[in-house]
Amino acid sequence: MPQLSDQAISREGWGSRLGFMLASVGSAVGLGNMWRFPYATSEHGGAAFVFLYIVMVFAMGIPLMGCEFVVGRHTKLSPVGALRTLGGRHWAIVGHLFVLVGFCILAYYSVITGWTLRYAIEALTIGLPADPAAHFDQVATGHDALAFHLLSMTVMIAVVAGGVRSGIERTSFILMPALFILIIGLAIWAFTLDGAAAGYSFYLKTDFGKLFSLKVLVAAAGQAFFSLSLGMGAMLTYASYLSRKENLPVAAVTISTADFLVAFIAGLVVFPIIFAFDLSGEISESTLGALFIGLPKAFAAMGNAGRFVAFMFFATLLVGALTSGISLLEVVTASAMDGKHHAARKKAALFMGAIIALVGAPCAYDLEILAIFDQVVGNVLLASGALALAFLVGWKMKNPTEEIAHGFEGPSWMLKGWHLTLRFVVPPVLILVLYQSIQDTWVVVGGMLSN
Ligand code: PHE
Repeated sequence: MPQLSDQAISREGWGSRLGFMLASVGSAVGLGNMWRFPYATSEHGGAAFVFLYIVMVFAMGIPLMGCEFVVGRHTKLSPVGALRTLGGRHWAIVGHLFVLVGFCILAYYSVITGWTLRYAIEALTIGLPADPAAHFDQVATGHDALAFHLLSMTVMIAVVAGGVRSGIERTSFILMPALFILIIGLAIWAFTLDGAAAGYSFYLKTDFGKLFSLKVLVAAAGQAFFSLSLGMGAMLTYASYLSRKENLPVAAVTISTADFLVAFIAGLVVFPIIFAFDLSGEISESTLGALFIGLPKAFAAMGNAGRFVAFMFFATLLVGALTSGISLLEVVTASAMDGKHHAARKKAALFMGAIIALVGAPCAYDLEILAIFDQVVGNVLLASGALALAFLVGWKMKNPTEEIAHGFEGPSWMLKGWHLTLRFVVPPVLILVLYQSIQDTWVVVGGMLSN
């Protein structure tokens, strides 16, 4: 048993089990669900993709979330200290990499959060733009984008500075139920639209050939890591505030299922709207364009009711993005607090948040820089992080099943199965995913740089 440090012993904790669950679902549910998932599904074979995605969530995502929970709760430290405790000095470098990945995701994620904030405010105050494409250009880049990026960082800093219980947990208690109500309300409304049937059939049109495509499998796996916030220590950090009583496997299954349901329902909202207003041309151009140009066009066509729906839609997106951003900032902040200088929470959140805001500034001026950040960090680095974690817990950590058994009430063969999956199933699939995702990134980034 490694010695727990003083900081670990005096560490903050969640006020309740539900608080931890809501905050973790808040981390998982975000732009990945409402922006990436519906398009990945329509692009990669409809129901075939959904099926492979569910397989990936169960075969890879849930075991890996278990890994993060075990490492976090066992060490009661953020990534750097946690990996050092379990793996030794060299693993601290991997921990630093995790923090850097969180840092870089938040840098561009907060720029997109800023757009959603602006769209939500505008729907309420001035209404919908006459020319959504021109409006998007104005919102997405330049000083305007920078201003809203800074505003969304400020909100995240304020929440994280408030602490685990009175900042993150309290915010999740209010925002997450609101998100569920909003998205279900939107799905019911979308069901009543004329284009609903055409939208559903486009979304879930099944191309069974894709079931056996490596590319689709890899896309499903990559989407699973991003959407479940795995591979950079977000779930690890949240679990470091947990007590030994928590049932980790049940938590992992519940969080992953909730995350999947929100993503699936988001598709049931987006596609009927697109088809009801004959905007299918928009979705072939760019996925972000569909969300920020196509949908506003549809909302505008609906008059005053459209303004209200637009507000609901962008508020949902905003809530998802904020609670995910908060978890990213928490990783970086907790690492500064656990680090050599033992920074105080408020100072750490403010200082780190300010640097992240600065690093994200170029993304607010150039969408290609933003896309490169997303491709490299959101795909390649998360998969690498997940591989490192599976290796650490599967092969290096002594008796990980003992930690996960605390609070678990099911049969012990399940825990052994988890350990074997981490050792023999997760790493080879991850190596395939990494191979494919490095190739994709090479093509995408190469194409952008040569432009
Ligand atoms: N899961 C978040 C989403 O789906 C993104 C995220 C990734 C958050 C990694 C934290 C860590 O939008």
